[in-house]
Amino acid sequence: QSFFTPIQNTAPPSSTKGHTKISVIGVGNVGMAIAQTILTQDLADELALVDAVKDKLRGEMLDLQHAAAFLPRTKILSSIDYSVTARSDLCIVTAGARQNPGESRLNLLQRNVGLFKKIIPPLAQLSPDAILLIVSNPVDVLTYVAWKLSGFPSNRVIGSGTNLDSSRFRFLIADHIDVNAQDVQAYIVGEHGDSSVALWSSISVGGVPVVSYLEKQQIPCEKETLERIHKEVVGSAYEVIRLKGYTSWAIGYSAANLAFSILRNQRKIHPVTVLANGFYGIGPGAGGGEVFLSLPALLGRGGALAVTNVHMTEEEAQRLRDSAKTLLELQRQLEI
Ligand code: NAI
Ligand code: LAC
Repeated sequence: QSFFTPIQNTAPPSSTKGHTKISVIGVGNVGMAIAQTILTQDLADELALVDAVKDKLRGEMLDLQHAAAFLPRTKILSSIDYSVTARSDLCIVTAGARQNPGESRLNLLQRNVGLFKKIIPPLAQLSPDAILLIVSNPVDVLTYVAWKLSGFPSNRVIGSGTNLDSSRFRFLIADHIDVNAQDVQAYIVGEHGDSSVALWSSISVGGVPVVSYLEKQQIPCEKETLERIHKEVVGSAYEVIRLKGYTSWAIGYSAANLAFSILRNQRKIHPVTVLANGFYGIGPGAGGGEVFLSLPALLGRGGALAVTNVHMTEEEAQRLRDSAKTLLELQRQLEI
């Protein structure tokens, strides 16, 4: 089995026009955290903002424009009219209802599907070569909805998925052993949410596989610590939402990190929401149907280029298939 399983027709668009345009749909907590990170990291020549609330939208645009003296030059536009997004290279969708304290992400589905029926078709029509990066929750099912509504090939419809969960996982592991989080490799896959799956065998620190090291050193308690840390990851959003009402900064950096990998053709591996059929026994073997969930995917200018064949224990693969079934059951209730 090769290292990667390719995803079809991932050639970058012919019109690499040398001018990068990103559109952010939804200028709430998350959309603005993403927008300001895009500006700080000089990711686009043009940033278009869209929202349904006219004054807030114009206010956010003006407030960002007033920082121009401190930032790399980026043309910032905004409108409630989707024509402002025309010819985008990347459309990042954050519009939608967010969880109330204690509410699950899956509970947002009906409200946000209705929104997507209004948002996705004009985006797709005005930017037929764009890559869609879905952030709104429940992000995995909404990425499936965006794929269906846009008519785009699956490699160009990606969800932010467990890129954020994996970052939380890496932070907590790094904090526990007091090293830099960038020296910790660790993947969480599956649903961005309560049924996410930690890939224990993927955890390495400075290239040392942690779980096998702990087993060799006969340090059993650390496996329990890692399991506690995964539980803390699953609870992270609920805790932050309870404390400050929403999450924004970490998803802002996570989405901008994905935008960089895509637009600068980094061919970097990220755990993001992709069409999972045919991987790890998902698809017909897991109750049929097309399902989107997070897998370690190779990201570049053509979007999701391939899925990495990371090692999964049978237990991890089964939990991934169970996660897929949860999402499929939700998808089946949708009228798209
Ligand atoms: P928010 O309420 O601050 O912002 C939502 C924005 O969407 C508002 O500005 C609203 O006016 C706008 N909006 C509503 N209907 C619209 C329409 N038809 N067209 C354009 N804009 C529209 O919410 P927040 O905190 O920014 O969260 C946004 C979404 O992102 C939620 O679904 C939340 O669950 C999700 N999220 C996802 C994360 C992930 O890791 N995937 C992390 C954090 C939040
Ligand atoms: C998160 C939720 C809001 O921050 O999706 O993970």
